[in-house]
Amino acid sequence: MSDSFQEQLRALRARSLHRKLREIGSAQGVEVQIVGRQLVNFSSDDYLGLAADPILRQAATAAIEEFGVGAGSSRLISGTQTPHAALESALARWKRVPAAISFSSGYAAAVGALPALASKEEVVILDKACHAAFIDGARLSGATLRVFPHNHLGKLESHLEWARREYPAGRIVVVTEAIFSNEGDRPPLRELVELKKRFEAFLLLDEAHSVGVIGPHGRGLAAELGLENEVDATLGTFGKSLGVSGGYICGSRDLIDWLINRARSFLFSTAPPPALAAAATAAIRFLLSEEGETRRKTLWRRIVQLRKLLPEKEQEFGRPGGAIIPWLVGDEQRALDLARALRAEGFFVPAIRYPTVPKGAARLRITISAAHSALQIASLGEAIRRLRGPD
Ligand SMILES: Cc1ncc(COP(=O)(O)O)c(C=O)c1O
Repeated sequence: MSDSFQEQLRALRARSLHRKLREIGSAQGVEVQIVGRQLVNFSSDDYLGLAADPILRQAATAAIEEFGVGAGSSRLISGTQTPHAALESALARWKRVPAAISFSSGYAAAVGALPALASKEEVVILDKACHAAFIDGARLSGATLRVFPHNHLGKLESHLEWARREYPAGRIVVVTEAIFSNEGDRPPLRELVELKKRFEAFLLLDEAHSVGVIGPHGRGLAAELGLENEVDATLGTFGKSLGVSGGYICGSRDLIDWLINRARSFLFSTAPPPALAAAATAAIRFLLSEEGETRRKTLWRRIVQLRKLLPEKEQEFGRPGGAIIPWLVGDEQRALDLARALRAEGFFVPAIRYPTVPKGAARLRITISAAHSALQIASLGEAIRRLRGPD
C-alpha cells in the first residue's frame, strides 16, 4: 500500500504538482518567519491586516474567559452560545440582509448550502473559475452541473435556456464570485442579475475576496453596485479580510431557516469556538468604523501602487479587481522557480498550480494587505520586473 502512495507522490513530483507545508513560526502578518527566514508575506488573504490585530485578540480572549473554548456540539444539539447569535445579528445588520447563518468555514458553507439549494431534477451552473468548494457542493447535491467559461455571459445564457427548458419548475442555482480567488477579477454582476431574473434563477454570490475590500464599509461587490437586493444569497468567509476563520451565508429569513434545517455541514458539525465568533464580530465592528474605512483606503493605495509598477501587457497580471494580483506564467515548473527566486529575494508569493487552476495555467498569486508598507510594495514590484525580464 505505502508503495503505491510513493508512486503517486513520485508522479506528482514529476509533473511539478507536489505540494508541501511550510511552517511559519510567527503570527500571520506582512512579515513572517518561514524556516527561520524573515520574508515579506504576499500570500495571505488577510487584506486588512486584522489576523493578529489587538482588537481581535482582545475580543477572542474575553470570550474565552466567559465562554470557554469548545462549543460542545452542533448548535442544534447543545444550543447556540451568545457569541454565535451576536455574530449573526451583526453580520445581517452590516450586510443589510434579513438573516445570516455562520459555518465553521467558507468551504463548509458552500458544501452545505448547495445540496440544500438544489437536488436531483434541478441545476447548478458555475463559472469555470469558481472555488473548488462549489464544485464539491454541486456534486454532493446530485443536481445537474453545468459550467460556463469564466465570465462568459453568452454561454451562461445558453445554459440557462437549456436548464429552464429541461426543468421548467426546478430551481436553477447560478454561482459566481465577486472577486475571483485566482483570477483576481470581477464578474459582470449587473448582466448576471438580468439573466438570472429573465430565467427565474437563484443567484448565489461568493463575496469571500470582496468583503473588506470593496463596497461601502467593505460590504462587497453587490453593495458597491447597489445590487444587494437583487442577489438571492451571498456567501463569505471570516478567514480573509475579517482575519479569523469560519464562513457564512446571508439571505432571506426563510432561506436561512432552510439552511439551519438542511445544510448538513451545519447540522452535523460541532460549532466553531465562541471566541472565533466574538473575534469575527469585532472585525465587523472594525469595518463599520472610521478606522476601518481608512484601512481600506490604505489597502487601495497599495493595490494601485503595485499595479502601476507591473507591466500591463496582455493581462499578464490579470484584470484589476481587488487585492489579488495573479502573475500568469503558465508552466508549473516556471511558477515554482519564480516563487523560489522571489523567496531568495525575501518575498513569500505562492505558486498556484493544478488542480487549483487548470493544467498549464500556473501562476504566482500576489495578495496585497493594507499592512504592507509602500517600500515593501515598491521592492516587490522591482523584484518582479527584474525576474520577469524584458518583453
Ligand atoms: C472564493 C472562495 N470561496 C470560498 C472559500 C472558502 O473559504 P474558507 O477558507 O473559509 O473555507 C475560499 C477560500 O479559499 C475562496 O477563495
